[in-house]
Amino acid sequence: MAIEEPIVTMDKLVALCKRRGFVFGSSELYGGMSGFWDYGPLGVELKQNIKRAWWRANVHMRDDVVGLESAIIMPSAVWAASGHLQNFNDPLVECQSCKRRFRADDPEDASSCPQCGGTLSEARQFNTMFHTQVGPIADEGSVAYLRPETAQGTFVNFKNVLQSSPHKIPFGIAQVGKSFRNEITTGNFIFRSREFEQMELEFFVKPGTDDEWFDYWRTERMRWWTEDMGIHPENIRLRDHKMSELSHYSKQTSDFEYRYPFGVRELEGVADRTDFDLKAHMARSGSDLSYYDDETQERFVPYVIEPAVGVDRTVLVVLLDAYDEEQTGPKPSDRRIVLRLKPQLAPFKAAVFPLVANKPDIAERARAIYSTLKPEMTLAWDSIGNVGKRYRRQDEVGTPWCVTVDYQTLEDDTVTVRDRDSMTQERHPVDSLRELFRERLTTR
Ligand code: GAP
Repeated sequence: MAIEEPIVTMDKLVALCKRRGFVFGSSELYGGMSGFWDYGPLGVELKQNIKRAWWRANVHMRDDVVGLESAIIMPSAVWAASGHLQNFNDPLVECQSCKRRFRADDPEDASSCPQCGGTLSEARQFNTMFHTQVGPIADEGSVAYLRPETAQGTFVNFKNVLQSSPHKIPFGIAQVGKSFRNEITTGNFIFRSREFEQMELEFFVKPGTDDEWFDYWRTERMRWWTEDMGIHPENIRLRDHKMSELSHYSKQTSDFEYRYPFGVRELEGVADRTDFDLKAHMARSGSDLSYYDDETQERFVPYVIEPAVGVDRTVLVVLLDAYDEEQTGPKPSDRRIVLRLKPQLAPFKAAVFPLVANKPDIAERARAIYSTLKPEMTLAWDSIGNVGKRYRRQDEVGTPWCVTVDYQTLEDDTVTVRDRDSMTQERHPVDSLRELFRERLTTR
C-alpha cells in the first residue's frame, strides 16, 4: 500500500510563514543569527491571540490563579539557589575534524559528526544560560543571567504575591514572557530557539495533594490544546518521563508531545516540582516562604505543579495543525492552501472586498462597512486582483470570513459572506454583520 505523503512539510510551512509575513529569520539583512526569529505582521497577531487564549483560560476564567510579570535578568544568587548554575547543562560533543559542536543527546545527532563524518569528542557539560554584566563595574557581583525559564521569577515573588492579597492554597501564579537558552543546536524553525517566550503556571498545593493536582492539570491542559487551540487529538499525546529523564527539581513529569513533520517531540511539560524551589530559595535567601493555613492551623512549604509551554512552539503546532491543501476543481491550478485556524486565533477575523475596485459607489460602500466593523475585530481590506485570488490570499492566512460588497449591495444593502472552510457563500444584511461575527467568534 502506498504511504500517503503528509500534506504539511516544514519546507512548505517555512515558505508560507515568510511569504505571508508570519515569521522571518532574525537579522537576515546581515546573514541572520541561528536560533533567533522575528515575527511579522501576521505572526505577531497570531502570537498575541495564543497568549491571550492561554491567559484567559489560566487566569481570567479562574478564581484561583493570578498573573505576574517579573524581570528577565536576575542575579547569580537566584540561579545558584535554583540549581541552574550547577545543573542547567546539556552534553556537548565536538567534531575533531571540522570542530563543529553538537548536543550529544539530540536524537537527530549520530555518533559520528553529522556534517563531515569525523570522530566526536567525549561529551562535556555545557551550561546553556546566557550571562551578562549589570552596571559599569565588572566583578563577580555584577554577573547576572538572562532567565532560562520564567518560573524562578515567580518563586522569588511568592511571598510578595501572598502578602499583597489574600490567597488560599491551592492557588497559582501565571507568567508569560521571554526566556533565553544558549542551545547547542537549534533548528526545526521555531521549535527550538535561543530566545523564545514561555507561558508558565506555578500552581501551589498542599503536600500530599500534588498527585491529584498533577492529574487535574494534565487533563485541563489537554482540554486547552484540543478545544481552545483546536489541535487534532490524534496529533497530540501525553507521555510520562522515565526517572532518568526527570529534571533536577521534578518528582514526576509528563510531556505533551506533538506529531511534527520531523517526528514526535515535546510540546509542553507538566511537572511536579515538589517544594524544591521554595525550599532552595528559603535556604539561600534566609526568607521564610512557608504558608500558614488558618483553617487547619498548619504551616507548610507548598508543592508546585507546573504546566509550562513555549509560545513559539505553540505557534508552530497551531500552524502545522491548521495547514491544509485542497483541490477545488479539475485543473492543477484549482488548488488552494488553507489555514484552518480557530477563528479566535486567526490574525484577521474577516476581510472586506469591493467586488470591483474601480466603481466608486461600490468602493465607498465597502469602505464604510469596513470602518463600521473595524472597532469590533481585526480586519483585512483587499481590492487587488479578482475575487477568486483574494479568497486564495485570505485562505492562506486563515481568515475565516470574506465579505464582498457588490452591485446588489447598492440595491438591498446585503453582502455575501464566504466561509473559509466550506467555501459556501451566504447573503446577509449589512446591519446584521456585527452581531453575526460576534456570535460566531464566541461559539466557534
Ligand atoms: N519551567 C520549566 C521549564 O522551563 P522546559 O521543559 O525546559 O521546562 C518548557 O520548558 C517549555 O518551554 C517546553 O515544553 C517548550 O515548549 C518550551 N521551550 C523550552 N526550550 C525551548 C527552546 N529552546 N525554544 C523554544 N521553546 C522552548
